[in-house]
Amino acid sequence: MKTRRLHLKLLATAAAMSLAGLAAPALAQGAKVKVGLMLPYTGTFAALGTAIENGFRLHIAEQGGKLGGREIEFVKVDDESDPAKATDNVNKLVKRDNVDVLVGTVHSGVAMAMARVAKESGTLLIVPNAGAGAVTGAMCSANIFRSSFSNWQPGYAMGEVVAKKGHKKVVTITWKYAAGDESVAGFKEAFSKSGGQIVKELSLPFPNVEFQALLTEIASIKPDAVYTFFAGGGAVKFVKDYAAAGLKKNIPLYGAGFLTDGTLEAQGADADGLLTTLHYADGLNTPKDNAFRLAYVKAYKLQPDVYAVQGYDAAQMLGIGLNAVKGDLTKKAAFAEALRKAKIDSPRGPFTLGKNHDPVQDFYLRQVGAKENKSIGIASKSLADPGRGCKM
Ligand code: PHB
Repeated sequence: MKTRRLHLKLLATAAAMSLAGLAAPALAQGAKVKVGLMLPYTGTFAALGTAIENGFRLHIAEQGGKLGGREIEFVKVDDESDPAKATDNVNKLVKRDNVDVLVGTVHSGVAMAMARVAKESGTLLIVPNAGAGAVTGAMCSANIFRSSFSNWQPGYAMGEVVAKKGHKKVVTITWKYAAGDESVAGFKEAFSKSGGQIVKELSLPFPNVEFQALLTEIASIKPDAVYTFFAGGGAVKFVKDYAAAGLKKNIPLYGAGFLTDGTLEAQGADADGLLTTLHYADGLNTPKDNAFRLAYVKAYKLQPDVYAVQGYDAAQMLGIGLNAVKGDLTKKAAFAEALRKAKIDSPRGPFTLGKNHDPVQDFYLRQVGAKENKSIGIASKSLADPGRGCKM
């Protein structure tokens, strides 16, 4: 009698739980995985956010809409690349919408707020662009992964290239925030190792594009070369203004590859000949990249860029983790272990994750021609972010 009563009580509890939407653990695996997409859909990085989402969705569609046996559903937030709104935005996804996974974002300042919340709440976070050093440095965590790069990486690769070209005195110019500062620091580290000197570090607040006074200053300093980090709409305007100021023919311009990725249509001939370093390039002509590009163009009637690749690979990484735990996201250690061991078959070329969960990958030297960032060689092979300050 006693056991029967207990049994009935358990049944009633289970019914109440399911009415309240609190699926019992065994049922949770059948439920959809809720992905919180926090990306910029407005502002200077809007096109980047869209490309990331497109790439992410493409991989899921290729898997029949499921990863690790579970369907995927999305909740979206436009983060506007605004760090002041970032903590509220990410808390909405974690606390109100109860997402299983956070995917985002583009802007380093916003990504640091996401990493803080992910670390505190234990929510899985995959960063599909933002290169903030802290995300895979001081704030690194077993539940935080990056499918893109650290700001240090392309900067460091370009520092070596510019030194090898024999340039001695360089001016840097960028937006004054984590991404610009860290890109310049990476460049400086490699460039000064070879005896190069940064004669002036110019900057303006993000996302300003009034470059004129700074371009006049470059003209008066007359350095051997200029190194820059700009991206999205700001990169389009910078490349056009640099040419219009008459600097392009006299002072070679080098950049982290974001300067010319996803921007060439708008930059036109003003971008021709520019050299940049990045973990992706046009015309790689590998079976994986060819298949990816064909599928992307077919699905979106748009050419893919590095952001699309990073979104696609963020979904691949989620799939690798979910497959390893058969869809059970409570198995956090096994999920992380699978990613630490994985060789990710990216359109950029295969990559692995370092101990700090940042991609260890090749950086291509690319040159703009015929509206493409053609690879003209590898600037830095299997370059790993140093992961300074990461303890895990
Ligand atoms: C960043 O803020 O980390 C960032 C933004 C845009 C890029 C690259 C890095 O293209």
